[in-house]
Amino acid sequence: MLVLGVCSLKGGVGKTSVTLGLASAALERGLRTLVVDMDPQGDSTMSLGVQPEGVDVATVLDDPGEAAVRAATLASTWADAGLDVLPGSERNVRHDRLDDHELGRLRYALTGLTGYDLVLVDCPPSLGSLTRIGLTACDRAVVVTEPGLFAVMAVGRAMRTIDELRRGPAPNLQPLGIVVNRVRARSLEQAFRLDELRSLYGPLMLTPQVPERAALQQAQGAAQPVHAWPGAAATELSEVFDALLDRALRAPRR
Ligand SMILES: Nc1ncnc2c1ncn2[C@@H]1O[C@H](COP(=O)(O)OP(=O)(O)O)[C@@H](O)[C@H]1O
Ligand SMILES: [Mg+2]
Repeated sequence: MLVLGVCSLKGGVGKTSVTLGLASAALERGLRTLVVDMDPQGDSTMSLGVQPEGVDVATVLDDPGEAAVRAATLASTWADAGLDVLPGSERNVRHDRLDDHELGRLRYALTGLTGYDLVLVDCPPSLGSLTRIGLTACDRAVVVTEPGLFAVMAVGRAMRTIDELRRGPAPNLQPLGIVVNRVRARSLEQAFRLDELRSLYGPLMLTPQVPERAALQQAQGAAQPVHAWPGAAATELSEVFDALLDRALRAPRR
């Protein structure tokens, strides 16, 4: 089982979109996948067609264990089987201020969990304990960024957070790399920022990059996997997420 975190310390750059794209690729490939929604806003929960029913990831963090995970896990409406969600909810906000010695709670809850090939952890846009709890449960993490000024600076902070966690509560955690999202073919400003990212992070830059396409928002709004969405743009996006999933699966598994 590979546990892959999707993070950035900035909102709106595409963490949830990358999580959902990878979930869609994993479903297409027949991997048994669990999405853990650490964001109290619950965007990935909603786009996966799930309504939390009183128990969710907050319940799991209150009393971590495999039984709590099983009790809170719901099936995504994307498919009859193969894709589950540990839903996020506003109630999880209270776990954003846990002490550092509590950062292992999700990791502990996922230990011994069977029946999944892949767990995707969608993180909230902060440096708070929810992100750090999420990442501490992971073997690999991708940092999502847009090719813009402030987003590029936020990548550095996210990388330092991963590094800090590896030296502390998450010795197995490794950065898989940086996913650049919302790339537009003819933007000079973006080309400049992409060069900057390449010079700072060279081998950590993952390819392919994710283009900006309205089809991604349309599929998310309709709570559908991008692989099932019609049109050339959705096909292009599906191929991008297939390739990124391939890359993630080449990382050693637990
Ligand atoms: N590559 C893309 N093309 C078009 N829209 C995108 C793309 N990536 C993200 N978006 C849209 O941008 C908004 C923010 O993305 P989201 O994935 O929710 O970011 P985050 O989870 O980092 O806050 C969403 O409405 C999403 O549909
Ligand atoms: Mg999000």
